[in-house]
Amino acid sequence: MEDLKKLETEIIATIAAMDNLTGLEKLRVWEVGKKGRVSLLMRELGKMTPEEKKQFGPKLNGLKNKIIQAITDQQAALELQELNHRLQSERVDITLPSPSGNQGSIHPITQVMDEVAEIFTELGFSVAEGPEIEEDFYNFTALNIPPEHPARQMHDTFYFPEDSDGNRKLLRTHTSPVQIRTMMSGPPPYRIIVPGRTYRCDSDATHTPMFHQVEALVIDKDIHMGHLKWCIEEFCAKFFEIDDVKIRFRPSYFPFTEPSAEVDIGCAFKDGEILIGEGDDWLEIMGCGMVNPRVLENVNLNPDEYQGFAFGMGLDRIAMLKWGIPDLRDFFTADLRWLKHYGFASLDIPSLSTQRHNWEER
Ligand code: DAH
Repeated sequence: MEDLKKLETEIIATIAAMDNLTGLEKLRVWEVGKKGRVSLLMRELGKMTPEEKKQFGPKLNGLKNKIIQAITDQQAALELQELNHRLQSERVDITLPSPSGNQGSIHPITQVMDEVAEIFTELGFSVAEGPEIEEDFYNFTALNIPPEHPARQMHDTFYFPEDSDGNRKLLRTHTSPVQIRTMMSGPPPYRIIVPGRTYRCDSDATHTPMFHQVEALVIDKDIHMGHLKWCIEEFCAKFFEIDDVKIRFRPSYFPFTEPSAEVDIGCAFKDGEILIGEGDDWLEIMGCGMVNPRVLENVNLNPDEYQGFAFGMGLDRIAMLKWGIPDLRDFFTADLRWLKHYGFASLDIPSLSTQRHNWEER
């Protein structure tokens, strides 16, 4: 067995000298990864006598822990250094007079919300809102997701601590609770969209704990699936600016709609890019269906008299698709370079407004 003290000093010094995160990760794998140096030493324990094991086992474990600690500390230091560097280089002095040229820009999420609202208000919808801190009843129960329903698990809900009545509020996991709030606020007909923030405990390249959805709800007499299909087709053609957009409805399941479907849009994956409206591939963009009669009953509407459809769509996702933005997390890092690249000039006329005169012809 090597001289562990010497090894420790050597490794700790290398870690402290490492000046970048990629190098640090390589070092971690090399030293304490599954096939790393320390793990190989640990394997040698197997060949030792019980006495030697007693002596070396704890020492090796101690060494491993010290290395891991040193790496964690160095990682925190390097991240802080990087953050400070960004804060310095992206500094904006807001007390200075406005520089020549437009500096500010519209965030793609704001742009996508404006475009969606514009398309649906043309179709006769109005915009509704609801709270982001929501009650269980609106987020789940009234939408036909009772407490024991397995769909609750799929929502990765952020709950608040229990209040004095034993109720736990939550961060809404979708915009669907606003369906219930709307239907309870007055008599039908309803024709609303609900753009807004939603929350789930999830994070990777395509999921962030806070994200955006738009919900739609139409309730009236004699509403059928044909209306739903037409609305979605019109929306996709307008939003993606492609007249003969291909969409398909795949049977699916949501507790609040029956029947339910997922909508896929036709696309092609070419050289790592997604091209909407071309090719033979499909990409899911929303969930939809006819409002479940049980949901109507929950808000005291007679399902024999009123029917309707609903759909829900990820706004971040359709923004990524429309403008070819690869990583969802970048939407929320407030990186000035990213905002300059993907942002929209504040005084531009939105492309959809300029097309409005063509609307009747379509
Ligand atoms: N609320 C669903 C979700 O977040 C999406 C959804 C599916 C909304 C179907 C709807 C619908 O209104 O009819 O996953």
